[in-house]
Amino acid sequence: MRKIQIFDTTLRDGEQSPGCSMNLTEKLEMARQLDALGVSVIEAGFAIASPDDFKAVQAIARTVKNCRVASLSRALKGDIDRAWEAVQDAVHPVIHTFLATSDIHMKYKLKKEPEEVIAQIDEMVRYAKSLCPDVEFSAEDASRSDRAFLARAISTAIRAGANVVNIPDTVGYATPEEMYGLIDYLKKNVPGIDDVVISVHCHNDLGLATANTLAAIRAGATQAECTVSGIGERAGNASLEEIVMNLKTRRDVYDADCDVNTKQIYRSCKLLSSITGVPIAPNKAIVGENAFAHESGIHQHGVLANKATYEIMSPESIGIPEKAMVLGKHSGKHAFVDRIRSLGHDIPDSEVETAFERFKELADKKKTITDRDIEALISSQKALV
Ligand code: KIV
Ligand code: ZN
Repeated sequence: MRKIQIFDTTLRDGEQSPGCSMNLTEKLEMARQLDALGVSVIEAGFAIASPDDFKAVQAIARTVKNCRVASLSRALKGDIDRAWEAVQDAVHPVIHTFLATSDIHMKYKLKKEPEEVIAQIDEMVRYAKSLCPDVEFSAEDASRSDRAFLARAISTAIRAGANVVNIPDTVGYATPEEMYGLIDYLKKNVPGIDDVVISVHCHNDLGLATANTLAAIRAGATQAECTVSGIGERAGNASLEEIVMNLKTRRDVYDADCDVNTKQIYRSCKLLSSITGVPIAPNKAIVGENAFAHESGIHQHGVLANKATYEIMSPESIGIPEKAMVLGKHSGKHAFVDRIRSLGHDIPDSEVETAFERFKELADKKKTITDRDIEALISSQKALV
């Protein structure tokens, strides 16, 4: 079975989403959680973008021990130097450099002739490789690029030393059939492509990011770029939890797996939401409040008789806490702390007693305590200390 690498860009492309910027402490907390989740690569930021971005990438590179840590850089010497400076202390550093290959981007954004773009890819990938053994090259706007030109750009990057080549659907324009066809075409027309990692990076402008990523995987892509809860520029990126659970639930279709510890998925999404303050939509696939809530009598009856009647995956496999365990005034401290942690929060032992007392006061006033009540209690607790 093929192993798909999960490249998480929550802290770079995800952070570009309005209302989702994070400070250094928050980024570090999220990076530790991504490490526990078991992603293959964390794209920690865009080192040249600002001094704060640089500091965050460097701190993550120095903290994270299991996954590879990447910084994005344009295909420019100064960017690549800054990216390398930020990631060089990582156990597994990666330089991720990109240049656009579509006619519209080359003409209006880069103002360069196609031959100049090819020369720049060759020179800058070689330069990045001279600094770092692990280099990813992305052909920005690949899905709207002329296919033959894209194939030339990708083979240039491979010859120059890229060990990962990324095919983004930058503006979320492709259909699943087109993404399948594009990867298939590149596999047939780029010498040496089977010796490198073929990555895809799909945006969600038309709601097809996950479908497009999965189609590319079926065609032979071996790395999926995504973000927790699908946050990202405009309508977002492909959602990590959707890609992972599709691979796990439909192995018969994809004949592929990944190393993500699915039991950490819910915690990761909750942590991100509590950091950014952006709630998870109740109907969000995999992690929304309603994703496993069976409302209708017919469904409830079926699930009680045999869960598989209406459940294609179990809430436990995603790390969703036992729904049956309702918190109220009779609940103990252990269940209370357990619920806080499963919602993605950390509470130091020294604060448990005060928080538990406040929980009991609230439980006296309300019949049952919801997850939202717990989250409100935790954020007001944070404000108290
Ligand atoms: O969407 C995109 O093309 C990107 C690249 C920089 C990988 O984010
Ligand atoms: Zn992107």
